[in-house]
Amino acid sequence: MSQRVYIFDTTLRDGEQSPGVSLTVGEKTQIARQLARLGVDIIEAGFPISSPGDFESVSAIARAVKGVAVAGLARAEFKDIDRAWEAVRHAEQARIHTFIATSDIHLKYKLRMTREQVLEAAVAAVKRARSYTSDVEFSAEDASRTDFDYLCRVLAAVIEAGATTVNIPDTVGYAIPGEWGVLINNICQRVAGIEKAVVSVHCHNDLGLAVANSLAAVINGARQVEGAINGIGERAGNAAVEEVIMAMHTRKDNLGFFTGARTEEIYRASRLVSTLTGMKVQANKAIVGDNAFAHEAGIHQDGVLKERTTYEIMNPSMIGISRSNLVLGKHSGRHALRQRLEDMGYFLSEEELNSAFASFKKLSDKKTHITGEDIEAIIEEQMSALPHSLTLSYLHISSGTTVVPTATVGLRRNGQLFEEAACGNGPVDAICKAVDKITGISCTMINWGINAVTSGKDALGDVNLKITTDGEKVFFGRGISTDILEASAKAYVNAVNKLIHIERTAAARQAEKNEVEN
Ligand code: KIV
Ligand code: ZN
Repeated sequence: MSQRVYIFDTTLRDGEQSPGVSLTVGEKTQIARQLARLGVDIIEAGFPISSPGDFESVSAIARAVKGVAVAGLARAEFKDIDRAWEAVRHAEQARIHTFIATSDIHLKYKLRMTREQVLEAAVAAVKRARSYTSDVEFSAEDASRTDFDYLCRVLAAVIEAGATTVNIPDTVGYAIPGEWGVLINNICQRVAGIEKAVVSVHCHNDLGLAVANSLAAVINGARQVEGAINGIGERAGNAAVEEVIMAMHTRKDNLGFFTGARTEEIYRASRLVSTLTGMKVQANKAIVGDNAFAHEAGIHQDGVLKERTTYEIMNPSMIGISRSNLVLGKHSGRHALRQRLEDMGYFLSEEELNSAFASFKKLSDKKTHITGEDIEAIIEEQMSALPHSLTLSYLHISSGTTVVPTATVGLRRNGQLFEEAACGNGPVDAICKAVDKITGISCTMINWGINAVTSGKDALGDVNLKITTDGEKVFFGRGISTDILEASAKAYVNAVNKLIHIERTAAARQAEKNEVEN
């Protein structure tokens, strides 16, 4: 059996199901391009029937992203499968991923179906998918709590019907590595026809065991691992793709498996997903956390200075963290910025470079030394901007201990200036109210936080916030500046732009749908 393990990335489907995450089509496409650069084998781009927005994203990714298979999720129902095919059909390699729950608990309470009915639906779904594409994945949802003999019957039947990958999900994150390895091994031994399909696992992290379970499965015969960048996903998330890749890469001596991943793209993928989703990476997160390569204790620092491998099992450059200290300043030109960006792995178009250079020049008036982190923050802010959206033109604040905080805000869209003033409980509140007056949308801020991009009094402040209008859909915004209030204003405008963009596209699609139906 080959030792090659396929990486199936579900950041844009299961990952996007994380509470409070809503990405635009453009943002999802950017993430998909980075996943392709990272060298994952399959990108699960979304669940096309779940919403018109999901359909559009899957379809855009299928057309735009090359060199990787693109999958669309579908319940075991014909209408889902037809819709999934419509969305993925333009991909270089199009996969339909169909699923149905197989555990008695799901059959009884959720599906209200018998085992025979589920088996029939699974087979019919796979046959329908096979009528469109030769790349069909079947998932037995809640497999870890499914009766083993029944699970084997379902898997054998769907392979017979044409499934080329059979996925065994630990949907509720209940499995323990030892027993999970045994289960996968038994499936590989006992399911009729199993050699005709790739065995896959999809582990959730409710007990913090998703990566360990995924590796146990690979050791026991699985050859596809599903996961998400930074481990995002439903509840406690999915197996973190970067951890799975680096465990196999770093411990090849012990495990003996390999993937097609370009590990140097991991850090950029992690930053991009965190920036666009607003889901921060915890500092001590394995592989990509801020502290993953930081050494605090004197003994450790001393050891690393003498010989890096005393306390580091991976070289940070292997995952794309550059420790280059080259700083740029006021007199650095476009060429130097381009060079620095390319060293960091960002290859910008002329237009993008012009805009990054303008932000860089503005910053260099306020900050003497501009580091790699500052440049990364500028680029990330630029990436989350939407075309034809509102931008902050100017901001005037009056605030102090004895005055009512007041903000005057100027926003620009397509060259037109909109201005309003408002009072608030504090300066940030006043800014938000002035923006709300301009947009006519009243938003509630559900959290606000700031990080310093680098150290020092002139550090860039990186404001992250979340807003909602209905308490359900949450929009994330980010803004950076050496001035906290300006960063807050930019972050708020960024979140409002996303809200307007997503709601407007949804309304346009609904109108189109109504027109077709009438
Ligand atoms: O967790 C799960 O079971 C899933 C399936 C749709 C694969 O996400
Ligand atoms: Zn899942």
